[in-house]
Amino acid sequence: MSVVIKTTNLTKIYGEQKSVDHLNMTVKQGQIYGFLGRNGAGKTTTIRMLLGLIKPTHGEIEIFGENLFTNQKEILRRIGSMVEVPGFYENLTARENLMINAKIIGVHKKNAIDETLEIVGLHNETKKLVGKYSLGMKQRLGIARALLHYPELLILDEPTNGLDPIGIKEMRRLIKDLANERNITIVISSHILSEIEQLVDHMGIIHQGKLLEEVSFDQLRKRNRKYLEFQVSDDNKATMLLENQLEINDYEVHDEGHIRVYSHLGQQGQINRLFVQNDIDVSKIMMSEDRLEDYFTKLVGGGTIG
Ligand SMILES: Nc1ncnc2c1ncn2[C@@H]1O[C@H](COP(=O)(O)OP(=O)(O)OP(=O)(O)O)[C@@H](O)[C@H]1O
Ligand SMILES: [Mg+2]
Repeated sequence: MSVVIKTTNLTKIYGEQKSVDHLNMTVKQGQIYGFLGRNGAGKTTTIRMLLGLIKPTHGEIEIFGENLFTNQKEILRRIGSMVEVPGFYENLTARENLMINAKIIGVHKKNAIDETLEIVGLHNETKKLVGKYSLGMKQRLGIARALLHYPELLILDEPTNGLDPIGIKEMRRLIKDLANERNITIVISSHILSEIEQLVDHMGIIHQGKLLEEVSFDQLRKRNRKYLEFQVSDDNKATMLLENQLEINDYEVHDEGHIRVYSHLGQQGQINRLFVQNDIDVSKIMMSEDRLEDYFTKLVGGGTIG
């Protein structure tokens, strides 16, 4: 897998403040990379530097294997982006807005506008003026604009900001489809873990300008898996029943009589029945807390992210 974004000691200092501090980030081709951090962590500042909108105080940025500053124009042509709330001409329609953008960035493909409107699901809303669009519709239009020139890399700064739960779900679907169907590498920032945890496959966690960890989501999930815990009178017999009757193999025995089951979450009733029917006493059933959320809280210290 080739490396799409690589930063080396990327730093941005405003006055006394290190907004981004020696950040080393690696995004590989085809990844959906979540860039997670609390408000003020340095996400937007990093993204602005990746897009050449502001200059780093020091450090390097390589995109598509080339130094951003020596070949900025060519590199930016291959990137689509949406940073913070996208702005549009409110008294024009979506299509008219995109036509203006297409002209500015030099998109010549004839169907580009209709195609992108369809991808983001706005093809039936083209009569409405953008001023009458809901926030979710504007976010979609922002993504349409970012896609107009068929980028290989899409950088989205908090695209779920301000959306309601259904809007967030739809946005996740849209981004997933883009990654799968168009094979675009996607970087998406957020300050809320739960909004992106079902979406991303890799994650960089930024806190006070520093990248605390960069990890694949599979690794993270394995490390922080949820489980059902049963306290039983006979753990040998209980695990035998789990394996033979329910084909559950993904479990661990902790201490005496404490069994953690990592699959079949939500089926504690069935498991409990099986134990009781076979004369095993069950003195406790417990579902573990969301350990992933705990993990982040620990990592970035105090309070939840957001
Ligand atoms: N132009 C600027 N001048 C001075 N300080 C700035 C500037 N831009 C950002 N900062 C500071 O840099 C820090 C990081 O800001 P940034 O906008 O990158 O955070 P963020 O992670 O995007 O936060 P949010 O989740 O709120 O969008 C903040 O403390 C902010 O006040
Ligand atoms: Mg921001």
